[in-house]
Amino acid sequence: GFEVVAASVAAFLIGAVNPATILAKILGKDLRHAGSGNPGATNAGRVLGARWGVVVGVLDVLKGLLPVLLAQHFLGSITALWVGLAVVLGHIWSPFLKGQGGKGVATSLGAILAVQPWFGLGMLVVFGLLVWRMRWVAGASVSACLLLLVLGVLTWVRWVPVGTWETGVWCVLLALLVIYRHRRNIELWISARRDASSTG
Ligand code: G3P
Repeated sequence: GFEVVAASVAAFLIGAVNPATILAKILGKDLRHAGSGNPGATNAGRVLGARWGVVVGVLDVLKGLLPVLLAQHFLGSITALWVGLAVVLGHIWSPFLKGQGGKGVATSLGAILAVQPWFGLGMLVVFGLLVWRMRWVAGASVSACLLLLVLGVLTWVRWVPVGTWETGVWCVLLALLVIYRHRRNIELWISARRDASSTG
């Protein structure tokens, strides 16, 4: 009822506050017009320096983690799922940024660490290994989301002994959302591969 709606609206507004944009502004830069144009940890690292990328990443993870933990504690596990979805939606389609927020990797990771810690840790391992091997954050992000998609489906149909079916559906939604936000990265990857094979 009212509680779910109020908590979700609050979470959406928290999600809409974008640490990358604020930090960049303080440092006199505009992430929209530099690097990939994305107001997230990766582009903050690219434009402002690696250290700021880490700061933004940590803040974005906390932005997803803390509201969901609070909601779990005070409002229950189902409301916490709505809060998690809302905080990521706020980050992605921030009204403070005219709807042009980030891609939701760190924020959804934070929410997932609160709801399904093992899934979050698994994603972190895949993400870390792939960034290390490929030096390509977007590819690592999409790969971690594909893992989440599979884990979410398995939870949904009750093939893994963790979480409720609702958390499974929730994982699937988050994974699809973040993958959808990387469509530009995926397009660039496909055309780069095409170029490589035609000139190779
Ligand atoms: O931080 C999101 C990451 O997966 C991709 O960011 O700036 O390389 O498009 P970017």
